[in-house]
Amino acid sequence: MRSFLVAGNWKMNGSKPQATELLQQLVPLLKDITHVECVVCPPNVYLPLCSELLEASNIKLGAQNIASNIKAAYTGEISPPMLREFACKYVIIGHSERRTLLQETDQLIAEKVAVALDGGLHPILCIGETKEQLDAGLGLKTVMAQLAAVLEKVGIERFKNAVVAYEPVWAIGTGLSATPQQAQEMHAHIRKYLAVLDPEIAATTQILYGGSMNAANAAELLQQPDINGGLIGGASLKAQEFSEICHAAMRIGSK
Ligand code: PGA
Repeated sequence: MRSFLVAGNWKMNGSKPQATELLQQLVPLLKDITHVECVVCPPNVYLPLCSELLEASNIKLGAQNIASNIKAAYTGEISPPMLREFACKYVIIGHSERRTLLQETDQLIAEKVAVALDGGLHPILCIGETKEQLDAGLGLKTVMAQLAAVLEKVGIERFKNAVVAYEPVWAIGTGLSATPQQAQEMHAHIRKYLAVLDPEIAATTQILYGGSMNAANAAELLQQPDINGGLIGGASLKAQEFSEICHAAMRIGSK
C-alpha cells in the first residue's frame, strides 16, 4: 500500500462565497477517500472560514506562505502558532511564483522551512527548474542546489517532517505537464540525494509532482514509483477535478 498526498494550491484565487461553495462540494466528494492525505491551501484570509468548513471532514488544511522568523515585530507576516490555531497542518514554501515574483532566495526559503518545522508544521518545499535552465542542461543542478540549501540549514533528521514538491517552472499553469518519465527521473534523483544523507528518511519522504497535473494525466504520473502525490494549482479550484485526482491516487495506492 503506497500512501499519497494530494494538495490543492489555490494561489490568490477565491472569495468567501467561492471558497464556501468549493469546500461544500469537495467534502462529500472526498469522504470515502482513505490512504490519501487530501489537503487544500487557501489564501490566509480564508483559513478561518475553511477550517470551520473542514472541521468534520477528512480534508487537511495548509497555508501558502509563512514568516522567515518568529519575531513578533514583523509587519504583515504570519507565524506557525497562528496557522496552527486554524488547524493548518501544512505550509507551502518556496513556490516558484514567490521565488521569481518576490525574489525569495534559497537562503530565505531554508529559513522558512526551519521556522515551519520548529513550529510543528509540515513544509511542502517546492523546487524546480525554469525552461531556460532546462534547455541549458541545468535542470538537475538547479533542483539539487535548491534542495541542498534547505538541507544544509535544517539537516536530514528534521527534514523527515517535510514534503518535497518537484514543480518544473515551465509546467506550472501552462497546461504542459512534465511527462511521467521526466518527472520520475527527477523524483528519483531527489530521493537518491536524500538517501545519501539517510536512506530511511529518503524512503518515506513524500515527493509530490506539480505543474499542470489534472484529472486526465494524474494517474499516469502517480503510477511512477517515486511520485507520492501532487501539488495541484488550477485543477484544485474545481471540486470534481480535484476529487478525481485524489481518487486516482487512492486507486493506485491500493493496488
Ligand atoms: P498548476 O499549478 O497545477 O496550475 O500548473 C501548480 C502549482 O503552481 O503549484
